[in-house]
Amino acid sequence: MRKNIVAGNWKMNKNLQEGVAFAKDLETALAGKTLKCEVVIGTPFVHLASVASATKLAVAAQNCADKASGAYTGEVSAAMVASTGAKYVILGHSERRTYYGETDAILKEKVLLALANGLSPIFCIGETKDEREKNAHFDVVKRQTVEALFNLSSEDFSKIVIAYEPVWAIGTGLTATSEQAQEMHAFIRQTIADKFGKEVADNTSILYGGSANGGNAKELFACPDIDGGLIGGASLDVEKFIPVIEGF
Ligand code: PGA
Repeated sequence: MRKNIVAGNWKMNKNLQEGVAFAKDLETALAGKTLKCEVVIGTPFVHLASVASATKLAVAAQNCADKASGAYTGEVSAAMVASTGAKYVILGHSERRTYYGETDAILKEKVLLALANGLSPIFCIGETKDEREKNAHFDVVKRQTVEALFNLSSEDFSKIVIAYEPVWAIGTGLTATSEQAQEMHAFIRQTIADKFGKEVADNTSILYGGSANGGNAKELFACPDIDGGLIGGASLDVEKFIPVIEGF
């Protein structure tokens, strides 16, 4: 059975004290509510251990290295992330692909290391505005999925969460319509089914990301192939994040 997930992605926001305080406030605000999804908070590396020990909420890193260990100054390994108590790692976010040159080949290594260390990747895919206008969006999303994930066994693939994030919708206030998102999510699920079979595809959580908020979450999450969201801006305030979580 696939899981509903609402995951916050703080990106490079909040210092350590603000992050820990937010996590505690969120946990308090959610206490007593009946949640229909798993709530995840994606924090900077520095916050992971403190947030993981301050709350019972699931915690995600926003990246990990493509090497296991060694002389890679400034990098943080999947093993280090796992040792903090984090459960997930966001990989392949378009900001990592665009600003830090992360390719499908690099991401393939990161996914393998995350899985080898017991982390579930939240693997981001999505087309740019230009690619959608050229009608290349299905090809792009398929390539990103195939190149970084289709080397996995069915067993390993079943630990992956997909996040479809059209780049043109991230941080722009321009959300994909629920029809556009549902169409792409169904395509992604079919692509997974063609490779790993219907059962694996049906059990894969596919999240939507890109200007999702309390105002549009309900409509997006009501789509049959949308299993939750990866939330940037609206995950930075407890009052804005809760209505997204309650979109289920
Ligand atoms: P946004 O970011 O919700 O601010 O558009 C989503 C993301 O980048 O994961």
